[in-house]
Amino acid sequence: MKEPPVIDIISPHGMCAGVHAAVAKALAEGKKSEVPLYCLHELVHNEIVIDELKALGFIFVDSVEQIPVGETVVFSAHGVSPQIRKAAAERKLKVIDTTCPFVAKVHSVAKDFTEKKLPVVILGDEKHIEVQGIVGEIESVGGKAYCGFSSAIENASLPAGSKIAVVAQTTMNAEKVAAEIEALGKKFKVKNAARVCGATDERQEAVRRYAETALPGTGVLVLGSRTSANSKRLAEVAAASGLKTFFAGSLEELENIDFSGVKRLGVTSGASTPERFFSEAIRRLRHIPEHVAIIMDGNGRWATSRGKPRGEGHKAGAKTLGDVLDWCGKKGVKYLTVYAFSTENWKRPKSEVTGLMNLFAAMLKKKERDFIKNRVRFRMIGRRGDLSKSLLRVIEALELKTQEFERQFIVAISYGGRAEIVDAVNSAISRGEPVTEESFRKYLYAGDIPDPDLVIRTSGECRTSNFLLWESAYSEYYFTDVLWPDFSEEEFDKAIASYAGRNRRRGGV
Ligand code: FPP
Repeated sequence: MKEPPVIDIISPHGMCAGVHAAVAKALAEGKKSEVPLYCLHELVHNEIVIDELKALGFIFVDSVEQIPVGETVVFSAHGVSPQIRKAAAERKLKVIDTTCPFVAKVHSVAKDFTEKKLPVVILGDEKHIEVQGIVGEIESVGGKAYCGFSSAIENASLPAGSKIAVVAQTTMNAEKVAAEIEALGKKFKVKNAARVCGATDERQEAVRRYAETALPGTGVLVLGSRTSANSKRLAEVAAASGLKTFFAGSLEELENIDFSGVKRLGVTSGASTPERFFSEAIRRLRHIPEHVAIIMDGNGRWATSRGKPRGEGHKAGAKTLGDVLDWCGKKGVKYLTVYAFSTENWKRPKSEVTGLMNLFAAMLKKKERDFIKNRVRFRMIGRRGDLSKSLLRVIEALELKTQEFERQFIVAISYGGRAEIVDAVNSAISRGEPVTEESFRKYLYAGDIPDPDLVIRTSGECRTSNFLLWESAYSEYYFTDVLWPDFSEEEFDKAIASYAGRNRRRGGV
């Protein structure tokens, strides 16, 4: 197997504060709204974000005239001109404004200078929507905007020696802006009001710093859309630093990149790239399993070997489980399923069963705040009817409170793989539907989540013990002699490294 590159995260990377706020506002409004919202131009230059908004019913338009009278328009993070605001008001559109505060500040500065009769030069790309908005601002108070770079401005109809004010497109590079201002200063009396957004520069600077200490065989991967000027610029900076540079706008694109010969890979992302895409890309590049399932075995033996009651082993095991949940978050594992109590475990002494049930309720109550803080969705799989009403209340309340979160922690209680299949078959029969392998999934306890990639069993036992029989058909197994309470991060890393080195052919060649 080819040795995959060691992955470094280049920081800072990803969404700037303005984009983050714009996307969060649009998503929240989209979820609330019962009617489609109309977004004037792309909210931010990123296809993943745009697709997410489209899925929420957003309609993207190029002019307010395309929006039916009385509907709602969303102004993008790049800002709009007063003329567009006026046209929206004339159509009686309700407005959701996500203009980046930084861009809004440039608008107000450009307007002030124009009102003071100072010609305003906008350094930037005159075709960019942000620059067009600032041009509109200047024209709205009777001024004329001069867009582009020093070479073009010098040839414009401005007399040499005249006073000019200079602003800049917020995503421009600070050094480039400084050089442009210096060039303009040779011909004009420049009032420098150009303020670029630090976020773009910081991301480029981080790539330069990474390149400075990079050894031969190091590459850089930029995650972002090809429509995003700042993402493309990040790739240019990386390439100019002499590193082999890769670019991916989607996970499909990432899967098709050939990293042969690259020993180390620094990964960064543009200021409009969602962190969700970034972390999923990192997970794939590091070959971290998406779904880990664990048979937490050996609590009893751990306790007995220390002369303690078995219940102490379960308590120690519960502590280990809390740590594993943290490690999963840190490493990017999205789903963790643990076998806490099997359909067969009811045969254990009553005191042990009661102790375990009390431990489950206590641990879930104690962890509630952590689940919410770390945005972890809790779910139970197993025969709910076997549980006491009080435990079920704790479980179902927690499931409800965390149901929005993406990362998941699934606990199997009164669970058996055969029982799950039998329950699923009975549900399918009661619906009177013949099933296929794919449609059968929806009858499983958590059929909406992907199958486990890796199943770990501790304590030296090498059996599946009726755990996830359907779901683990193509899972990779890792067995360790370590007893569950002693399961350490090092041991978890060993399991993940073992998984990363396997060739999952799933019956193919
Ligand atoms: C198997 O070890 C372990 C169990 C049956 C219980 C596992 C439960 C926890 C770790 C608590 C988890 C808490 C929540 C909230 C999910 P064993 O008792 O069979 O050990 P042995 O084989 O050495 O006897």
